[in-house]
Amino acid sequence: MYTLKELIDQLLNIKKLPTLPPVIFILEKSLNVKEPDVHRVSRIISDDPPLTSALLKLANSVMYTARRKTTTVQEAIVRLGFKEIRKLVFDVGMVRYVSALPKGLIDPQKFWEHSIGVAFCMEEIQLRTGLRDHDGSSAHVVGLLHDLGRLISATYLPDVHQNLPDNEQSEDPRKSILDLEAQRIGIDHTQIAAAVLERWGLPLEIVNCVRFHHQPDVAPKIQRKDIYLLHLADSICRIGRVGDSGEGRLKEIKQAVWDTLGLESARTEEILVQVREKIKNSGVLSSIIGIKS
Ligand SMILES: [Fe+2]
Ligand SMILES: [Fe+2]
Repeated sequence: MYTLKELIDQLLNIKKLPTLPPVIFILEKSLNVKEPDVHRVSRIISDDPPLTSALLKLANSVMYTARRKTTTVQEAIVRLGFKEIRKLVFDVGMVRYVSALPKGLIDPQKFWEHSIGVAFCMEEIQLRTGLRDHDGSSAHVVGLLHDLGRLISATYLPDVHQNLPDNEQSEDPRKSILDLEAQRIGIDHTQIAAAVLERWGLPLEIVNCVRFHHQPDVAPKIQRKDIYLLHLADSICRIGRVGDSGEGRLKEIKQAVWDTLGLESARTEEILVQVREKIKNSGVLSSIIGIKS
């Protein structure tokens, strides 16, 4: 059994946990200003061949059809806009991170599908509720990162990590995940991820979403609605078995969660259809980096 500090020290120092690709942090600084500089962002992306390739493919994909093909990074940035660039940078970074890790107990392709699925699901819920995050890209980013703690524990603590059973019988699904992890490891995956993301210097808003994604009711008030959004997206993907982060299937979502966001549970299937469609279309991205989808 570890304390949180011992565990994080062990992961970061002894096990040499890799960070997300440095290009994410460099671009975060350049994009997180009032008016990002297209030339600067373009130079950073051009130094990263897989990112450049993903950017050009996305800019020329059906979603952004134009008469003329985009052949330069700068043109692609202008066509897509900075919000889409930020999402893409995290997409590519996360795929690269997942595919580079040593084999653990979690299937990298299923893990990727779950992460991108939750990101897409958040966007689908936003469309139907009118809820918007302040910068138009944060929901996507927290969706991608929300189960990072599961990935880390599966890869670096295989002796204590174990896939969790489907919790269809459980009266309180939230309890079964976090409690089982706490019993086995001493802390749960939300605490692991929050501590690691904090050390990597990601903004507190992202860290909080990840930390409270199974317990939105105890999240800081100012962010509670955003975190309910993440919680609902994750729950819908677990009900529909969109990918898998090893947490097992969920049987139902509490009515209070739907009510908080002002959405009807009857829309679950319609949302899942859209999410699966978007995952299919994101196959281009994952195949560029090495995970087949
Ligand atoms: Fe989770
Ligand atoms: Fe999840």
